[in-house]
Amino acid sequence: MVQKVTKAIFPVAGLGTRFLPATKSVPKEIMTLVDRPLIQYAIDEARAAGITEFIFVTSRGKGALEDYFDHAPQLESELESKGKTELLNILQDTNMDSGAVAYVRQHKAKGLGHAVWCARRLIGDEPVAVLLPDDVIAADKPCLQQMVEAYEETGGNMVAAMEVPSEKTSSYGVLDVANDMGNMVSVKGMVEKPAPGTSPSNLAVIGRYILTPQVLNHLNDMKEGAGGEIQLTDAIAQEVTESNNVYGFRFRGQRFDCGSKAGFLQATVSFGLQRPELKDELEQYLIELASARQAAQ
Ligand code: G1P
Repeated sequence: MVQKVTKAIFPVAGLGTRFLPATKSVPKEIMTLVDRPLIQYAIDEARAAGITEFIFVTSRGKGALEDYFDHAPQLESELESKGKTELLNILQDTNMDSGAVAYVRQHKAKGLGHAVWCARRLIGDEPVAVLLPDDVIAADKPCLQQMVEAYEETGGNMVAAMEVPSEKTSSYGVLDVANDMGNMVSVKGMVEKPAPGTSPSNLAVIGRYILTPQVLNHLNDMKEGAGGEIQLTDAIAQEVTESNNVYGFRFRGQRFDCGSKAGFLQATVSFGLQRPELKDELEQYLIELASARQAAQ
């Protein structure tokens, strides 16, 4: 029996400079896809996978995130007194249990590996999930839940994986595949942001991880890697060498890179089209737009 995964780390310390000037005063994770902040998608996914403890690695200027997780009693009672039950339910669904949320500050922007390492004392000797909120994954069964179910069979470490075009591999952690079993691969190596032409495969790591305590241990003495940052990929790669228990999981679903403006816009359109109350109007607009552009060509 593998140990159950009940804790998750959400690295949210990034400055979000790609979204300036918005991120001058709004944390990137509060920016909304339709009407839900980016972070809410990651939280809902974690909850669906059985996570009960949520650890946010934050930085200066992320106060709005803490406020977002707080209950809003005044707003709740106002909605209640006005009989706006539907809105009240939506609001209450975002409430977190007392003591379920913890914050750790990452004092220096030293990379993803360092951010995860900052949460080490809250993890102890347990497996932990890591979710990067920039990677939004639309799926019938939430991605982390798919991974937890697969992990119950394999144990060890698991990373979400997806095929990307060769010219994109240098933007990702990439897996060196030992054995391809279809939706799962065993891994014999991992490289963070390989230089063009040197990538071991096209199978890229997407921001969902299940990690053993050993990986957090490796982060204790990890050297700077790609981009001069402490890389989570390097700590997982060390675990491949030492324990040979790392798996890539080809999730079923569509991933949006909400760390980029184009990805964010695509996610907005796609999630908008999923909403019954928006679908018709939005679809109509897109059709008109496409035909107007075609006519102009
Ligand atoms: C991070 C990880 C990388 C992973 C990617 C997925 O990179 O370091 O291994 O492939 O997330 O989105 P970042 O996008 O933060 O540069």
